[in-house]
Order: sequence, then structure tokens, then C-alpha cells
Amino acid sequence: MRITVVQGDITEQEVDAVVNAANTRMRGGGGVDGAIHCAGGPAVLEDCVRRFPDGLATGDAGWTTAGELPASWVIHVVGPNHAAGQTDRGLLTSCYRRALEVADELGARSVAFPLVSAGIYGWPRQDAVDAAVETLRASPTEVEEARLVAFDGATHTLIAQRLSTT
Ligand code: AR6
Repeated sequence: MRITVVQGDITEQEVDAVVNAANTRMRGGGGVDGAIHCAGGPAVLEDCVRRFPDGLATGDAGWTTAGELPASWVIHVVGPNHAAGQTDRGLLTSCYRRALEVADELGARSVAFPLVSAGIYGWPRQDAVDAAVETLRASPTEVEEARLVAFDGATHTLIAQRLSTT
């Protein structure tokens, strides 16, 4: 699998699946979650309600339609809320591993990821980058491109630096 980095908005990525940084309720929110529901339209929330009546566990992943987004699917993951004291790193790495498993179930070959937990959930940014890159590199998958989408230039630089090291 190729791991690439771009600076931009996750909702504009032309990939098979985009990953959403959701929460356990799976009914929308701010940050990436708000942007995906806004750009994807009501079909995304309708599918969340239908497919996830009880929400989704922290560290887990599940898919819905992508509605009006250019992607075919949204793969929702729930990162740990570091700001609320959830500091188990295994829950963060699980998001990337589980997202790739769901992508394989769907037959998605290109997947765009935000930096899960690094926004509202407050995970320290360098460690969020390390966890993302390490886990994507270590996970067996049929996905051909994992695209890390950095919202700002500083995050783009950190990810590019991490990708240039082993
Ligand atoms: N495209 C790409 N990256 C983005 C975008 C975007 N449109 N918007 C923000 N980022 P966050 P979390 C970056 O807060 O920390 C929601 O309310 C952002 O700069 O979206 O996992 C959910 O419902 C940061 O680097 O996700 C949950 O309650 C990264 O994406 C909670 O927030 C993740 O930031 C999840 O918090």
C-alpha cells in the first residue's frame, strides 16, 4: 500500500472511501464529522441511524453511504477522546486497522484518512501522526492508497517528515 499525504479538505478527496472522525453516538458533530455530514447531505445521517442504532464503540469502524461526496463510502471511526482522559493508544491505532478491514470488506482501493483524535479530542499531534503512519504501514490490506489528509500546513509537514523516515 502507498501512503501519501495531501493538504486539504477530506470532503473533497476523490477516493473510494473517506474516513470520518466520528463519536460513539454516530449522529454527527463538529470538525471532520460536521464537514462530512454537511457535504454528504442527509443520506449520511439517515444511513448512520439505520445501520448504527446503538452507535459505534471507541476504536471501531463501520461504513455508510457517502451521499453527495465524491467518494462511494464513508468509513466512520471513533477515536479516543484524549481531552476527556481516554489515553489508551491502542484505541487510536485500532481506528486505522479497523478502517482498513472495513475498506477491504467494501473492496475500496483508495481511502482518505483525517488525523483521527488530533482535533476536538486533543490527542498530541506528533503522536497522532506517529500512530497513523506506524499502523497504516503495519496493517495487511488490499487497499492500494492510504491518503492522509492534513487540514493545515504544519500537520502536512509533520506527516511528510514522518513518512520520509522508517
Ligand atoms: N478535512 C480534513 N481534516 C480536517 C477537517 C477537514 N474538513 N476538519 C478538521 N480536520 P476532529 P477528533 C482535522 O476534531 O479529534 C467531532 O465533534 C483537524 O484539524 O475532526 O477525532 C466528532 O463528532 C484534526 O487534525 O476529530 C467527535 O465528537 C483532525 O482533522 C469529535 O469531534 C481531526 O479533528 C472527534 O474529534
